[in-house]
Amino acid sequence: MAPPSTSAAAAAAAVEEEERKRNILVTGGAGFIGTHTVLQLLKGGFHVTIIDNLDNSVEEAVDRVRGLAGPDLSKRLQFFLGDLRNKEDLDKVFSQNRYDAVIHFAGLKAVGESVAKPLLYYDNNLIGSINLYEFMAKYGCKKLVFSSSTTVYGQPEKIPCVEDFELKAMNPYGRTKLFLEDIARDIQKADPDWNIILLRYFNPVGAHESGKIGEDPKGIPNNLMPYIQQVAVGRLPVLNVYGHDYPTKDGSAVRDYIHVMDVADGHIAALKKIFATEDIGCVAYNLGTGYGTSVLEMVAAFEKASGKKIPIKLSPRRPGDATAVYASTEKAEKELGWRAKYTIEDMCRDQWNWARNNPYGYRSSEP
Ligand code: UD1
Repeated sequence: MAPPSTSAAAAAAAVEEEERKRNILVTGGAGFIGTHTVLQLLKGGFHVTIIDNLDNSVEEAVDRVRGLAGPDLSKRLQFFLGDLRNKEDLDKVFSQNRYDAVIHFAGLKAVGESVAKPLLYYDNNLIGSINLYEFMAKYGCKKLVFSSSTTVYGQPEKIPCVEDFELKAMNPYGRTKLFLEDIARDIQKADPDWNIILLRYFNPVGAHESGKIGEDPKGIPNNLMPYIQQVAVGRLPVLNVYGHDYPTKDGSAVRDYIHVMDVADGHIAALKKIFATEDIGCVAYNLGTGYGTSVLEMVAAFEKASGKKIPIKLSPRRPGDATAVYASTEKAEKELGWRAKYTIEDMCRDQWNWARNNPYGYRSSEP
């Protein structure tokens, strides 16, 4: 009989071999978090199919992922230009491959735009997801990792945010995320064959260390780091610091910024958990670092990383903004075996590396 160490190694190799054959459908895989996650999936041995309508992304981003993955791994990546609201697109994607799990990123995420165009948000985020789940059920793929957000905590009364806090939405975008969490819980309750992990992202920033992929929002950025980055490269003149009278250490609001590579790795940990657990149910995890950083501290850290002065204008609070939000990380650490590794300095270094190499994002000049 083989010694135990050999059989354990053989069992581990068998599991790894099995994992290598796994096929993951990634909706919104051309986007900011999507591209970084797809790269980590390929490196982790998975086969990946992306469906993306390129509404807020470009195919060049997928080509860059292929470049980073190298010729062998990128053979395992397929890209479909398609929209989840179009059932014909879903039919094509699902009839072509058998998927072991779906990571569902696709969706719109600008709070202000959602207030101005609620129907656009309900149509995109809700209808698209309902169609996707319908096809998953039809084709017998009932393992799902869903992109949720800290937005479901509303204005938290206590920090750190713990997964079992009461949930509430503050705007149409937040309502779509909350509805989609509820829909996921309902689907799983009705059919226990579903295994669903809801990942609540805090504030994903930074970029891949190569500087080849990163965040490239259309139009004037809504979020802090893409805005700072565009000031640093001279596309925007000054950063408005929204709120300087918050009851925080320096008066500016506090958030839990997390490196996008940590967020990507959180998805790999979630998938592994789903594949390793028979009846996970529908369960939510925070993806944050557990540390709060103020807007002014973030500006200072970016200035240090880039050597650029970021002119600021102290401005009134942005409506709907919370004072301070950061994650409790205990549940993800304990149950997913995942924790964030990167520091604020790492996030700013990688964000700047992406910015200086790609001042216009994936384009070569101002769009
Ligand atoms: C925002 C959304 C959140 C969404 C997340 C990801 C709101 C209220 N929340 O989170 O629902 O899930 O983006 O898209 O919009 N700031 C400035 N100047 C700027 C931009 C931002 O001072 O030009 C400040 C904000 O006031 C905030 C902090 O920077 O205090 C972070 O802002 P942002 O990057 O937009 O993230 P959140 O507001 O936390």
